Amino acid sequence: MNLYDVYPLFDVNIVKGKGCRVWDDKGAEYIDLYGGHAVISIGHAHPRYVKAISEQVATLGFYSNSVINTLQQRVAEKLGRMSGYEDYSLFFINSGAEANENALKLSSFKNGKKRVIAFRKAFHGRTSLAVEVTDNPKIIAPINANGHTTYLELGDIDGVREEIAKGDVTAVIIEGIQGVGGIRIPTVEFLQQLQQLCNETGTTLILDEIQSGCGRSGRFFAHQWAGITPDMITQAKGIGNGFPIGMLLISPKFQPVYGELGTTFGGNHLACAAAGAVLDVMEDENLLDNVNRVGKYLMEELSGIECIKEVRGRGLMIGIEFDRPIKEIRHRLLFEEHVFTGVSGTNVIRLLPPLTLPMNDAEEFVRRFKKVL
Ligand SMILES: Cc1ncc(COP(=O)(O)O)c(C=O)c1O
Repeated sequence: MNLYDVYPLFDVNIVKGKGCRVWDDKGAEYIDLYGGHAVISIGHAHPRYVKAISEQVATLGFYSNSVINTLQQRVAEKLGRMSGYEDYSLFFINSGAEANENALKLSSFKNGKKRVIAFRKAFHGRTSLAVEVTDNPKIIAPINANGHTTYLELGDIDGVREEIAKGDVTAVIIEGIQGVGGIRIPTVEFLQQLQQLCNETGTTLILDEIQSGCGRSGRFFAHQWAGITPDMITQAKGIGNGFPIGMLLISPKFQPVYGELGTTFGGNHLACAAAGAVLDVMEDENLLDNVNRVGKYLMEELSGIECIKEVRGRGLMIGIEFDRPIKEIRHRLLFEEHVFTGVSGTNVIRLLPPLTLPMNDAEEFVRRFKKVL
């Protein structure tokens, strides 16, 4: 059987990872400034993560959501404390798309409405509602094009006001920082106005923190730079450090109803062991401090390079925009300099390294990057 060929692949077979480095099958070592697409938060094969998952799978790998699971409670308590959302409730699923899917569904259950406001260049995942609020017609199949979404420019508060005034909008969904869209940060003012408007009209404000959350921006969630408290927050990627986990943080405005949401695998024992280890390491190793310190260094160094058009970002979520396609630069970074990076569109290199990135790896990246340029 062949693999269903939907991914254009780099010709490299990564077989091992440790910290912020990965190795291919020929033993060549690479600096990981990509984190497997913003997934690796506490570094590859962190000993506490390995121990937590190994011990859990040897004890109990899975049981269903029909019995008490105190591991879920422990993750919820710690996440609540570390993120500042202690009064919110937590619903576990398995991926980012599923988190957004459930957020939109819950919003519609609550206010009975069907239309969603999303923003240009947004990416929210590939399940039916998540893809429908994603601004990319190429990945929306006819069966998913159900007319639920109105796309507005990021920052268009008058547009949001006008659409909500029509009375049928259930939710506004927005990324803490647009990732796939090219590291575009909504302004503090826009987020604050959005929250106010949503509060006044009973519209649900959903913050998609799947890429920008779990410490990547230098705060637990990127929207916390704007001092807002959305109705729902979705996260995935970094909270599992590679274990597939999705989470939905839900404000106390919402009352749970038995059977309204559900999942077989969400919040299973192994997932909780993984998320628990991520939170433990984030706290005990002060990863937010590292993100802010190393992120600041990278932003400053990169901003000083002449042929770059713009450097955008917060913490360790950085976009480097050129006035021409970056395909060759990225290719040479990988194959000549052994540095993994991400991409947005054609002209933006995206840096999404593990939050543990040491300063000397950041310095080494800058040296290799300048060499390629
Ligand atoms: C902002 C954002 N939302 C949602 C998703 C979808 O997450 P998943 O691929 O885990 O379904 C992604 C994935 O890249 C993302 O970046």
